[in-house]
Amino acid sequence: MKRVTLTQYLIEQQRSAGTVSPELRLLLEVIARACKMISHAVGKGALAGIGDVVGTQNVQGEAQKKLDVVANEVLVEANEWGGQLAAMVSEEMDRPYLIPSRYPSGQFLLLMDPLDGSSNLDVNISVGTIFSVLRCPDGCTTIDEQAFLQPGSRQVAAGFTVYGASTILVLTVGSGVACFTLDKELGSFVLTQGSLTIPPDTHEFAINVSNQRNWEPPVRRYIDECLAGRTGTRAKDFNMRWVASMVADVYRTLSRGGIFLYPRDAKHRDGRLRLMYEANPMAFIVEQAGGAATDGRQRILDLQPAALHERVGVILGSKNEVERVTRYHRET
Ligand code: F6P
Repeated sequence: MKRVTLTQYLIEQQRSAGTVSPELRLLLEVIARACKMISHAVGKGALAGIGDVVGTQNVQGEAQKKLDVVANEVLVEANEWGGQLAAMVSEEMDRPYLIPSRYPSGQFLLLMDPLDGSSNLDVNISVGTIFSVLRCPDGCTTIDEQAFLQPGSRQVAAGFTVYGASTILVLTVGSGVACFTLDKELGSFVLTQGSLTIPPDTHEFAINVSNQRNWEPPVRRYIDECLAGRTGTRAKDFNMRWVASMVADVYRTLSRGGIFLYPRDAKHRDGRLRLMYEANPMAFIVEQAGGAATDGRQRILDLQPAALHERVGVILGSKNEVERVTRYHRET
């Protein structure tokens, strides 16, 4: 069977769908190259001291692991000189990183979570990188925080990797979702699924049940009905999974259907996950795969961000299930 590499896929998108400009293609290839380096570092495990804490905290107040910092540096260094970007935002940096004046500045903005799920690193559970690409707003001459505060519907590309038993890259440029697997011998991402589609119905849910006492009534109602199984109103049994690495949980949801919830609750009043570099890219991918993503009330991609590192409730996955939970919120 003919192998299609990421480069070939992007060139084909450039030619046929017109969704990828040469600059965007270069940017996505550079991100993918940086992810290969991160995959290599994660693969070394304890030999590289990957679970070690460096003694600093990120803007969210979370302890930074050595590899959080390494992954951030790898992505910044790979992307700062190519001329495609004007600035970057990362979970690991308080403020936007403007492209230094010694390099040409481009038309795109990159937002990223360099190592999502890194609390799982020291127990050898999958982690990954999440990224989102926006265009600089029209007529924008100075890049500051404001330039990034665009709704997720304006993303031109989004993707994530999972550094697991194999390394995979899931990508959308707004014309469906493709999945690539890293051929570690050749060093290239090879297309392994051309058009990911989420089944509209599911019998699998993912939520951190230790937050149950804090849930809002609509979430409680939905999960109670799932737990009641075939004896309850849903008349079918549900299964539960929670990896606690969003990349792994969302990849499973994309692959075989399901619903992923990290809703806002009495403890996480604004939600737990970050809007701009976790929820938005995942919502874009999930919608492109035929699923849905809301914060319980509104479509995530329609939310107007107010701050770079703001948090949001997230409910995403199989369309009919997400619509059901969103309806329960409306009815409450
Ligand atoms: O945002 C980081 C993250 O690790 C996500 O990848 C994951 O979904 C979530 O936090 C896990 O949260 P908790 O530890 O509360 O289950």
